[in-house]
Amino acid sequence: MEFFEINVNNKIHQVEADPSTPLLWIIRENLSLVGTKYGCGISQCGACTVHLNGEAIRSCVYPVSAVGKQKITTIEGLSKDGEYSYVQEAWINEDVSQCGYCQAGQIMSATALLEKSSDPPDDEIDIAMSGNICRCGTYTRIKKAIKSASSNKKSNGNY
Ligand code: FES
Ligand code: FES
Repeated sequence: MEFFEINVNNKIHQVEADPSTPLLWIIRENLSLVGTKYGCGISQCGACTVHLNGEAIRSCVYPVSAVGKQKITTIEGLSKDGEYSYVQEAWINEDVSQCGYCQAGQIMSATALLEKSSDPPDDEIDIAMSGNICRCGTYTRIKKAIKSASSNKKSNGNY
């Protein structure tokens, strides 16, 4: 076991863990941030997607020892002072979720995309979202929400 100091949602947390522990378990078990979900554990479904310095990564295969001083953002870090991010608002307005299990990961991937490319074409959206699986088949609404978020993009001071 080793001690790690990690920045999650702009807060520094001290955690004790085996260096190979996936970041997902640190987020869920040590920090009780349970919005990020476990799906496959092998980087195949996207349910565990978080941001590492703004890039979407699969936290189920990312060891805590590799985080260092990089900034982690989880779904809980997107809203600020009770205000949803522009992507979360679009998700609500388009009524995207069905069971909801995959949706935190979908929103994190969509946010990483829209923060880099404010008006992404269809093929760019397809590539960015290709690693996020939805067993309920909400793909059409996801794409609609991304387009709507893209046209209504605004800053709430966080995302
Ligand atoms: S749980 Fe990480 S990609 Fe499926
Ligand atoms: S909403 Fe059910 S898995 Fe995506």
